[in-house]
Amino acid sequence: MITKKSNTKRDGFSGKFGIIAAAAGSAVGLGNIWKFPYEAGANGGSAFIIVYILFVVLIGLPVMLSEFIIGRNAQKNVFGAFRAIKPNQKVWGLVGMLGVFVAFIILAFYGTVAGWTVEYLYQSLANNLTGHSAEEYTSMFDEFIKNPYRPVIWQIFFMILTGLIVLVGVKNGIEKSAKIMMPLLLVLLIGLGIKALTLDGAYKGLEFLFYPDFSHFTYKSVLEALGQSFFSLSLGMGTLITYASYVAKDDNIVKTSFIVAGADTFIAILAGIVIFPAVFAFGISPGAGPGLVFVTLPNVFAQIQGGEFFAIAFFLSLTVAALTSSISLLEVIVAYFKEELKIERKFSTIIAVVVISILGVFCTLSFGPLKDFTIFGHTIFDAADFLASNIILPIGGFSIAIFVGWFMDTKEIKAEISSDNMYKIKIYGVYRFLIKYIVPFAILLVFLSSIGII
Ligand code: TRP
Repeated sequence: MITKKSNTKRDGFSGKFGIIAAAAGSAVGLGNIWKFPYEAGANGGSAFIIVYILFVVLIGLPVMLSEFIIGRNAQKNVFGAFRAIKPNQKVWGLVGMLGVFVAFIILAFYGTVAGWTVEYLYQSLANNLTGHSAEEYTSMFDEFIKNPYRPVIWQIFFMILTGLIVLVGVKNGIEKSAKIMMPLLLVLLIGLGIKALTLDGAYKGLEFLFYPDFSHFTYKSVLEALGQSFFSLSLGMGTLITYASYVAKDDNIVKTSFIVAGADTFIAILAGIVIFPAVFAFGISPGAGPGLVFVTLPNVFAQIQGGEFFAIAFFLSLTVAALTSSISLLEVIVAYFKEELKIERKFSTIIAVVVISILGVFCTLSFGPLKDFTIFGHTIFDAADFLASNIILPIGGFSIAIFVGWFMDTKEIKAEISSDNMYKIKIYGVYRFLIKYIVPFAILLVFLSSIGII
C-alpha cells in the first residue's frame, strides 16, 4: 500500500500559479513580519540579516528544492513520502513523524501571535488604534497579552478558522485565499515602507538594518538565524513535501523554489524597512522582543492620513498571511491522519484543531498567568518556539539533506528536478554539492558552535 505511487482521487493545485501562490502563502506569514524584525532587532540588526541571507541561499534553497523533489516524487504525506521512496528503510518514517509532531508545536505558538493579530484587526476596526502616544501603545499591548481571556479567545478563534479552511480542501481553501490577500499585503508593506522612510530618525533605522555591526552578534545569533531561515521558508518538517505532493508533474520546481524563497526573503527585509525606521523614530528598543511589531506599527498608522483604514487593511492582510501559513501546517497533520491512519478529513481536522488549541492556551497564557513557569529559563511560548524553530526544524532539514543527498536514487532526483527532461536545469551540479556536503555540514557546525563545543 505504502509504496503505491498512484495519484487517484487526490486533491491538487490548479496550475503553475497555484503552487507558487500556495507555497509562498505558506512561507510568507508572521515569520516575516512579526518574527524576522524582532529576531534581527535582538541580534544586532544587519549582522543577523547578512547571516540570515547566507543561510537562505546555501541551506534554505537546497532544502526547499529537496522537499519539492521528495513530495512530488512520492505524491504522499510527509510520513508516507519517505516510506514510498525508500520502502526498505522504515527508519525514515521517523523524520516524517517528527514533522507531524512539530507541526502541533508550531501551530500552538503560532496561534498565540495570530490571535494578537486578530485582536489588532479588531482594535483597528473599532478605531482604537490611532491617536495615542508611543507609551500608550506599549502599555496597551502589555495589558492585552497579560489578560487571561482575550488572547486565548482570539487564538481559539484563529485555530477554528484555520480548521474550516483546511476542511474545504486544497484547491478551494488554500489557493484562493493566498491569491487574493498576498498581493494586498505586499502593496501595503511598500506603502508603509515609504511612510517609514520619511520619519525623523529613519536614517538610524536603515543604518541598523544595513550597516554591518557584529558587536551584538553571538554564536547563539547564528543558531537563531538558522532557525529563522527554516521557520520563515516553512522548511524542515514536510510542509512543502505535503504541498509538492499536490503539484503536477510538469511544474518547474526549481523555478518555483527560487520564486518562493526570493519572495519570502524580500518580504522579510521589507518588513524590516518598515519597522526599524519607526522603532528609532519613536524611541522603541530594537530588542523589545515578540511585541516589537505590535508596539511599533500603530505609531506609524497614527501618522498617516487615513491611518485607521490603513491599519484595518494591514491587520486584515496579516491575518490572512498568517492563515495561509497555518493551513499549510495543519495540512501536514491532516494529510498524515487521512492517508496513514485512515481517519477521514473532517474528523482529522477536528482532532488536530482541538489538540492544538489546548496546547496553544499554555503558550498564550505564558505571557500572563503562566509567566513565571519556565523551562530551562524559557517561558512556555519561548520554549516551544526555540525547540521547534532552532532545534527540530534544522534536524529535519539535516535529515532531508542526508536523505536526498546520500540515499535517494540520483536518476530519480534528476528526473524530478527537470520534470522528466522537460526543463534544462543548469544548477544540478551545484545543488547536488550543496545538499550532499554543505547543508549537513553547515547545520552540524551551527549546532556544535551554539552549544559551545566549537
Ligand atoms: N513560514 C511561515 C511564516 O513565516 C510559518 C510556517 C508555515 C512554517 N509552515 C511552516 C514554519 C512549516 C515552519 C515549518 O510565518
